[in-house]
Amino acid sequence: MTVANEPARYTGSQILLHWTIAVLIVVQLVIGEDIKPAYRAFSRGTEPAAGDIFNANIHVYVGLVVLVLAIWRIAVRLRDGVPAPPPEESVLLKRIAAATHFLLYLFIFGMPITGALAWYFSLRAMGEIHELAKPVIIVVVGLHAAAALWQHFYVKSEVLVRMLRPAGRRAP
Ligand code: HEM
Ligand code: HEM
Repeated sequence: MTVANEPARYTGSQILLHWTIAVLIVVQLVIGEDIKPAYRAFSRGTEPAAGDIFNANIHVYVGLVVLVLAIWRIAVRLRDGVPAPPPEESVLLKRIAAATHFLLYLFIFGMPITGALAWYFSLRAMGEIHELAKPVIIVVVGLHAAAALWQHFYVKSEVLVRMLRPAGRRAP
């Protein structure tokens, strides 16, 4: 049965937000190192090269866009709800999926916030946490993506499809 806050699929805006944030996070992981020369220069009290400031600004603004989209995403989640986990899934797998999603939310909020505290307030400890999170995010996102593909190709559940095709659209 579908209850009000437990739709059969994600909505179009939830899907768009999920994939936009996913792409931006990957971009940030790839270009993350590019902010370091400017950050080091500012930390030493010297003027960074123009190119370094440009690279740093890209990282900062893409990251701040992720934060805005993450806030928007939570608002949409509270309004529209999310589909229930597949009924045939074991309790353990449901808990692992919920914990993974919680961690992913923590990252999409925590990375821009720790980055901003390091950048705007020169809080080195926040910069350290921000850097240490990089390999953790790669592992968690890797597991998350592998689980989605496993659900689709091996278990043959609706899990991946409902994050690709919005609620209200029938299969062709
Ligand atoms: C940085 C990259 C990513 C982030 C931050 C991310 C984040 C999330 C979050 C927070 C959810 C839970 C949504 C909710 O219930 O509110 C979710 C769901 C989902 N994600 Fe991702 N994701 C990423 C990449 C991927 C990739 C690469 C795939 C597929 C290969 C994927 C497939 C899915 C699917 C299928 C769901 C729905 C799970 C379900 O309905 O139980 N995600 N993602
Ligand atoms: C989606 C969000 C973000 C992700 C995934 C991300 C990712 C990264 C990565 C991978 C690095 C390089 C880490 C390393 O080389 O070990 C980095 C460095 C850094 N990022 Fe971000 N970042 C995000 C948002 C931000 C934002 C919004 C800011 C500032 C407003 C920021 C400021 C910094 C700073 C200052 C460093 C250098 C830290 C240091 O050297 O101690 N980041 N980030």
